[in-house]
Amino acid sequence: MRKRFGAVQAVDGVDLELYPGEIHALVGENGAGKSTLAAIAYGAVRADEGTVEADGVVGLVHQHFKLIDRLRVWENVLLNREPKRGWTIDVPAARERVRALSSAYGLAVDPDALVETLPVGIKQRVELLRELDREPSVLLLDEPTAALAPSEIASFFSTIADLAKRGTAVLVVTHKLGEVIAYSQRVTVMRAGRVVATHLTNETNADQIAREMVGGEVPALAARAAMAGSLLLEARGLSARSGTSAITDASFEVRAGEIVGIAGIEGNGQSALADALAGVVPFAGDVVFDGAHLHADDPPAARLQRGIRVIPQDRRGEALVLDWNVRDNVALGRQRTLALGKFGDAAREVIERFDVRPPDADAVVAQLSGGNQQKIVVGRALTSAPKLIVAYQPTRGIDIGAAALVQSRLIEARNGGAGVLLISFELDEIFACADRVLVIANGKFVGTFDRASIDRGRIGALMAGHA
Ligand SMILES: Nc1ncnc2c1ncn2[C@@H]1O[C@H](COP(=O)(O)OP(=O)(O)O)[C@@H](O)[C@H]1O
Ligand SMILES: [Mg+2]
Repeated sequence: MRKRFGAVQAVDGVDLELYPGEIHALVGENGAGKSTLAAIAYGAVRADEGTVEADGVVGLVHQHFKLIDRLRVWENVLLNREPKRGWTIDVPAARERVRALSSAYGLAVDPDALVETLPVGIKQRVELLRELDREPSVLLLDEPTAALAPSEIASFFSTIADLAKRGTAVLVVTHKLGEVIAYSQRVTVMRAGRVVATHLTNETNADQIAREMVGGEVPALAARAAMAGSLLLEARGLSARSGTSAITDASFEVRAGEIVGIAGIEGNGQSALADALAGVVPFAGDVVFDGAHLHADDPPAARLQRGIRVIPQDRRGEALVLDWNVRDNVALGRQRTLALGKFGDAAREVIERFDVRPPDADAVVAQLSGGNQQKIVVGRALTSAPKLIVAYQPTRGIDIGAAALVQSRLIEARNGGAGVLLISFELDEIFACADRVLVIANGKFVGTFDRASIDRGRIGALMAGHA
């Protein structure tokens, strides 16, 4: 199969076979093409080339839930397949069908619950039940455990293992190598749209898979900084929790004029780290920033005042007010310190330096592309005299041109004396920008590398939780 989106060859000549009775794991870094491949196999995305053959129905549980919040569980599960009595839906029969399905697979749900009231773990079950009602012989699961708590993951996989035992062919997309080793029988590794390896799981190990996932060479760094400067941020024994993300007893430092890359697989404590520094969640431990303590209860506004800038992971949810214009979004966070008459100047600076298109301060942010929205988020952080920049996945989901611009502006900010903490799930991004790399796994820092000592395979293995 092959599929191109604009300049991106998302899937580049992939062959994949799934067998009845088998859990097949599909792994790869963010952007490797896993979701696109699954969507092609399901029939939701049309491949440019290639064919898909399946013996029976193919089901797909999406990476991002596709449930209708305002409907009940049974309505979601049976949408467009509701049992009818005459012209109307046979509600008692529908409820019963969902109840029977849920008990057959050990996926407890209340058929009458409104989906919007359910926690993510239960929503996941509803998604799964909806596909199971179609009696798929092939079931594709795109990062099914991403939103689950660790305690829910084992029970989820026992359901999936049951399904496989009944003869279903299962594909599980994941980047959690522990899950691959524990639950799959076969594993395929993708990188940059291609399959780099397929193994029987019991003939490989997490180290080998991690090395295959990250592959490639370490790129040379453009425009090296002369020298890292004075100590800017020093954290000792930092612990924090944000949702299901946790970081424990982390000690690290960031110097002025240095980009410190945090390399890790998604879900290993990165959110807790970023949120603790941003002031969104409390932390324990000792943090000194720019010569003075940072207190766990210092609000985000006080941190902004001191020169900490955060580029959050979720630009639409955490960084922008989508129905405001560019000008007001650029001023956001500086509304108390920036004279009203200067809002336009600040916006123009971001628009010019970050090549925002259209170059219009009055444009409503919701109408810009993701790449241009991100330029505003990054531009706002970098044009307001930042001392420390916490950049969380700063190029996530944006096109290559916008990503290159964001990275080169981060490097410029570092050359100008700012310290940067770059949290990224993409090793290529870390290697392209960072002066020093800290590896995070299971909420702990497990390795440090400077540019001279970077070892891609070793970093991959540490990321996978192998010391
Ligand atoms: N609908 C789309 N439009 C444009 N680019 C896309 C689209 N879907 C995916 N891509 C791009 O294709 C590549 C592969 O994406 P994806 O299949 O989602 O990867 P993965 O699931 O492995 O993270 C990425 O560079 C992504 O940005
Ligand atoms: Mg994906």
